[in-house]
Amino acid sequence: PAEQAAEQPPVLVQIEDGIAWVTLNRPAKRNAINPGIVYNMVRIMEELEANDDCKIMVLTGAGDAFSAGMDLREYFRATDDDPKERTRLFRANGQWQWRWLRYYSKPTIAMVNGWCFGGAFTPLVCCDLAIAAEEATFGLSEINWGIIPAGVVSRALASLVREREAMYYVMTGETFNGRRAAEIGLVNEAVPRERLRERTRELAKVLMEKNPTVLRQAKIAHRMAAEMSWDQAADYLMAKVDQGTFHDPERGRDTAMKQFLDDKAFKPGLGAYQR
Ligand code: ACO
Repeated sequence: PAEQAAEQPPVLVQIEDGIAWVTLNRPAKRNAINPGIVYNMVRIMEELEANDDCKIMVLTGAGDAFSAGMDLREYFRATDDDPKERTRLFRANGQWQWRWLRYYSKPTIAMVNGWCFGGAFTPLVCCDLAIAAEEATFGLSEINWGIIPAGVVSRALASLVREREAMYYVMTGETFNGRRAAEIGLVNEAVPRERLRERTRELAKVLMEKNPTVLRQAKIAHRMAAEMSWDQAADYLMAKVDQGTFHDPERGRDTAMKQFLDDKAFKPGLGAYQR
């Protein structure tokens, strides 16, 4: 069994009906993020971006954990005295966990199936959408073992969660469940664990009905605009709309306008145009 465990890839990828299920796969270690997960995620994200079979990426964990955060043994202790590897590893981790994930060219959904601690909050926050099991357990446990929510965890948290709640969990390290995570805006919604995959699939299907070029632009534009002044955002967003009509191979705007105004075949208020 030890040999079998050693052969298991640290991340599994399964593509099914347009959805790439990316599963952190160290269940015996509660999917703690070690160098194997880091370097595999960098490679996998690059491959999926180029793979037309992948329309949506779902990030989840094997077994009863989403992820127990950074691996204290392999990510921290093993690199404490190895500054070169530490720099390389921490940079690669930042690459997949937020630099790439925030602006990934395909929609991303975090599916939080269980334990979610510390460093796992970064990819959770940086996925576009998130669904949690009501029974999942979240915690900013850093304070419990003598560090602050670093990497970029505190920054990520501040982008989603209200200040009172963020500070409360940063300072107490208290755990909370999926329902609470939805209440404080950390995830979109929480569903009973047995409905988790089905609900995630439903959401992915809604996204796959949309024009993928425009979907990509919409999510990136939203993130960018949030950090601009109103005037900058107005100019940038209008330029971005024009970029959309220029780049969209479907010419979706024209098709949709015709379907609505001329054919009266759909109502944009109620759903996507026929692609
Ligand atoms: N780093 C390294 N190893 C870990 C981690 C981790 N973050 N989390 C779990 N493991 C290992 C355990 O050491 C144990 O290994 P072993 O079987 O070789 O002894 C194995 O995974 C199973 O862990 P248990 O603690 O036995 O599992 P249990 O289900 O009882 O508890 C829980 C799960 C609550 C997630 C617990 O493992 C835990 O508290 N993990 C640490 C969570 C944490 O604080 N993460 C760091 C956040 S800070 C940051 O990421 C920067």
